[in-house]
Amino acid sequence: MMTCLFENYARWDIEIESGSGTHVVDSTGTAYLDFTSGIGVCNLGHCHPSVIESVSNQMQKLWHTSNLFKSSLQEQVAEKLTEFSNGSSVFFCNSGAEANEAAIKLARKYTGKSKIITFHQSFHGRTLGTMAATGQDKVKQGFGPMLETFIHLPFNDIEALKNEIDDETAAVMLEIIQGEGGVFPAEESFLLELENLCQKHGALLIVDEVQTGIGRTGTPFAYQHYQISPDIITSAKGLGNGFPTGAMIGKEQLKTAFNPGSHGSTFGGNPLAMSAAKATLDTVFEKEFLSEVNNKGNYLFEKLSEQLSSLKSLKSIRYKGLMFGLEFSEEVGPLLSLLRENGLIVLSAGPNVMRLLPPLTVTYEEMDVAIEKISTTLLESKKATC
Ligand SMILES: Cc1ncc(COP(=O)(O)O)c(C=O)c1O
Repeated sequence: MMTCLFENYARWDIEIESGSGTHVVDSTGTAYLDFTSGIGVCNLGHCHPSVIESVSNQMQKLWHTSNLFKSSLQEQVAEKLTEFSNGSSVFFCNSGAEANEAAIKLARKYTGKSKIITFHQSFHGRTLGTMAATGQDKVKQGFGPMLETFIHLPFNDIEALKNEIDDETAAVMLEIIQGEGGVFPAEESFLLELENLCQKHGALLIVDEVQTGIGRTGTPFAYQHYQISPDIITSAKGLGNGFPTGAMIGKEQLKTAFNPGSHGSTFGGNPLAMSAAKATLDTVFEKEFLSEVNNKGNYLFEKLSEQLSSLKSLKSIRYKGLMFGLEFSEEVGPLLSLLRENGLIVLSAGPNVMRLLPPLTVTYEEMDVAIEKISTTLLESKKATC
């Protein structure tokens, strides 16, 4: 088919036309269970009623003013983000890459240094800065030269970090669970030592919570599973439940580094985006809601482990809350296609990892259906290749 679009996405041959909760329907009327949430975005499921109501109300009032004006909506969302994190100031933008760009700029300006350490297999975005920060060569091919001030180290390797971090280091940036890189969690001891090293060398600790934040792992932000206190937290994806928005949250002492004119975004903190974020956070940050995310994650893990125990090609299941990575000894691409044919949409994370990011509102019945589809599809495909 002729297309007027740049072909920078390997798109599936499906057009989703509508969605509700965990369900989506394509242009041919075929229904699917969506265990991707639009790549970790619709954490409250598709077309969540309270988000619809909040955005619809705002739509009738005002769409855009600019950051020349005060905004009580931005204040309310910022209050919520700081109440549920250790930060005290928020900068709003429109995407994960922009939130990370803001973090990189803030770290440079606050410390007066430029060296930033990130990790192999990390993913931080597609802008020139965040692409350079990303620890995956495939993302960079053809776009060089890269910004030179990023150093990439093996993940969870504290010795490598000890050898590299010095007083010239502005920041260490990492995902608490590497999402695009294969659903690999940071180890607790690594995080604790990493924080100590940052403090010793006057380097800021930046956690990229673009994928892991907004309840995905069963806490408001994933770093809260550990006794660490990052200087900067970045957020996007789930923040607007599908309405594009991002945020960078910083600790109190960083506030003075951003003054009028030092950074900005025309659309950042747009009223429609803020109305979506407000409604989203009002639900997701509720204690009972988050404890259910943990319960559901444990249930999904137990059932998947049980049902797939005879599958030799399954090497491990990694999960926290409702962020899952099933690692196989073979490429998962063909399995993803078979699952779609059977009405379940899941993701990959690298060649061998099947990633599940269901809406946090997923029901136990929907999980049972998905587990059944995964086990029958995977076990049958094994039979067919034996
Ligand atoms: C951890 C992480 N950081 C940053 C990004 C980039 O976000 P965006 O695509 O909104 O720019 C992503 C997107 O997948 C991500 O997973």
